[in-house]
Amino acid sequence: MRPGIARYDGNAEWYDETFSAFHHQNAQAWFRECLGPGGGAVCLDVACGTGRSGRILREMGYRAVGFDISADQLRFARPRLAAAVRADARRLPLPGASADVATGMYFHTDTEDFAAVVGEVARCLRPGGRFAYLGVHPCYVGPFVYRLDERQDQALTFKPGYGTGGSGTGGWTSRGSGDGSRIGGRVGFHHKTLASFLQAFGNAGLILRSVREFVAPDGGILPWDLALLTEKPRPAGRQIPRASR
Ligand SMILES: C[S@@+](CC[C@H](N)C(=O)[O-])C[C@H]1O[C@@H](n2cnc3c(N)ncnc32)[C@H](O)[C@@H]1O
Repeated sequence: MRPGIARYDGNAEWYDETFSAFHHQNAQAWFRECLGPGGGAVCLDVACGTGRSGRILREMGYRAVGFDISADQLRFARPRLAAAVRADARRLPLPGASADVATGMYFHTDTEDFAAVVGEVARCLRPGGRFAYLGVHPCYVGPFVYRLDERQDQALTFKPGYGTGGSGTGGWTSRGSGDGSRIGGRVGFHHKTLASFLQAFGNAGLILRSVREFVAPDGGILPWDLALLTEKPRPAGRQIPRASR
């Protein structure tokens, strides 16, 4: 495995200023609904960045342990999370089957190896453990569509670029994400097709429990974010009926 590149080193200050708040209310509500009260349990926050999920996870009663490859991002995360560890999420410094809950937000476009990260999260989860992931929608956010004028135009124009580049399943682009964040120009943007995004969870053996699409808080024509709640299966014969969990 080639060492991961900390693309956000040198960009953490900008990232923290630009994305200081947690995500929109709908996403917060979804996280609360999916994960339920933490009761002091550890929640792995994979690719935690500056730790902006820390407040909501703390409010929900979780002890958030963040992992990120960027030392610069972790400077901001440390005071916001119970612990923040520098690690490549493709190889987390954790024993197998050691965590009940993991979250991840807005990082599938930051790694070419998303499937490896999801596989690693699955390794770390106990059977029955859950992984909640929220990120930009593979179909509607990327270098192939400019999203900033849709409210005034009541229209969207899609250009070529979905699923092209690199391996044919997407690829790095500095053209940006079309969402005005300028993130592509700074750290690159690795688009995933919907198929390769979903397949990452399937390859890891995770079961899909909930899927949601979110429009931007100020409206828009098409969804902006996609969220999945997945679960690591219990060994056969040890399934517990949903109602009694
Ligand atoms: C867009 S930021 C999202 C941060 C945070 N989850 C949030 O919602 O604000 C993407 C993060 O993924 C991290 N990252 C990218 N590849 C990684 C890897 N292989 N292992 C760990 N972190 C990684 C980057 O350093 C960056 O902090």
